[in-house]
Amino acid sequence: MSRRIIPVADVSAIPHVAGAPLAASGTLADALSRPLRDLRISVTDRCNFRCVYCMPRAVFGNDYPFLPHSALLTFEEIERLARIFVAHGVEKIRLTGGEPLLRKNIEWLIERLAALTTPEGRPLDLTLTTNGSLLARKARSLRDAGLSRVTVSLDALDDMLFKRMNDADFAPGAVLDGIAAAQAAGLAPIKVNMVVKRGTNDGEILPMARHFKGSGTILRFIEYMDVGTSNGWNMTEVLPSADVVARIGEHFPLVPLEAHTPAETAQRWGYADGSGEIGVISSVTRAFCGTCTRARLSTEGKLYLCLFASSGHDLRALVRGGASDEAVATAIGHIWQARDDRYSLLRGSATDSTSAGQPRVEMSYIGG
Ligand code: GTP
Ligand code: 5AD
Ligand code: SF4
Ligand code: SF4
Repeated sequence: MSRRIIPVADVSAIPHVAGAPLAASGTLADALSRPLRDLRISVTDRCNFRCVYCMPRAVFGNDYPFLPHSALLTFEEIERLARIFVAHGVEKIRLTGGEPLLRKNIEWLIERLAALTTPEGRPLDLTLTTNGSLLARKARSLRDAGLSRVTVSLDALDDMLFKRMNDADFAPGAVLDGIAAAQAAGLAPIKVNMVVKRGTNDGEILPMARHFKGSGTILRFIEYMDVGTSNGWNMTEVLPSADVVARIGEHFPLVPLEAHTPAETAQRWGYADGSGEIGVISSVTRAFCGTCTRARLSTEGKLYLCLFASSGHDLRALVRGGASDEAVATAIGHIWQARDDRYSLLRGSATDSTSAGQPRVEMSYIGG
């Protein structure tokens, strides 16, 4: 029988509403002086893939107890919370899952989020991370709804290997069709994220680089991380980004590029012949917590301050309990001000797969 792993103990059920009122001013900073700029919203905990590093079938089997619909934040609740986060300084919103395109009528949510603007009147950077399987069908309607761009996960071009990694018999061709549809719809710049597992798909690094070089699509290589507790993570399966850059550089010379923003997850490298760029995301070998401006809202409305957190702050309870916008803004403000999470930086000293003895949240629940 499969065991429900999440949500884990909620130690901070209804947070900090008792603190002094804290109006959203866009100037919020956490305990390590990091502003709040990005909000990643998980819209479903379900996925049609069973990637071995994220939702291994042995754990996420047919009897896995996914959240009932009533537990999910409604689109109205998401929009309201997003508006408050934007008032607090959020400039970029990413929809995630699970697989966000499985959420019914996601275009409606995108329309509402696309209408939000920063206090200075600028539109948000509104994006979405998808496995691409439904993108060929949906790219146009997503664009029409106001989505700015998409990021597509793709771990291999080899048919057998990709099917083995997603463990759901999806062929890479379907994802490539989705990428082409996104390109045609103008959801640019398109990024492709490849999680690299040494000994599994590191042989795909060069074919993937060759495939996307010169296409305008930005390929990014992600170090396999120890998120959650169900993927059986092992350091020997991590291929350091430095090796990825060296392997590609042997064939296609690379030059380092400046970061677009200090909070960027990826280090950028450009092809010396001017045919585009790649990125490497090195959360294991070169942690980027020092500039982490990301908050995460889970499918059921819990606010997580770190991808590796064990518990979240229950904003849904506030919203459904009738709290005013001011009370919700105050709660979010106090939670963010107390934030000192920096798991990847501290990872070196961690001795087991838990944070402070608690099981960590799963990536499929909180979103990448
Ligand atoms: P862009 O705005 O397009 O650069 O997106 P992003 O890199 O901020 O987000 P994306 O979802 O593309 O992130 C890519 C991968 O980086 C994720 O799937 C995670 O594996 C990893 N990642 C993203 N954010 C964090 C983070 O805050 N901490 C850690 N440790 N890893 C992260
Ligand atoms: N390590 C690194 N990235 C992961 N993702 C999921 N699980 C892991 C992991 N263990 C990321 C992948 C995927 C996105 C949805 O989440 O980038 O594309
Ligand atoms: Fe689904 Fe993405 Fe997780 Fe794969 S990595 S199982 S596509 S949520
Ligand atoms: Fe941010 Fe936590 Fe990732 Fe560090 S490990 S970058 S604090 S989400």
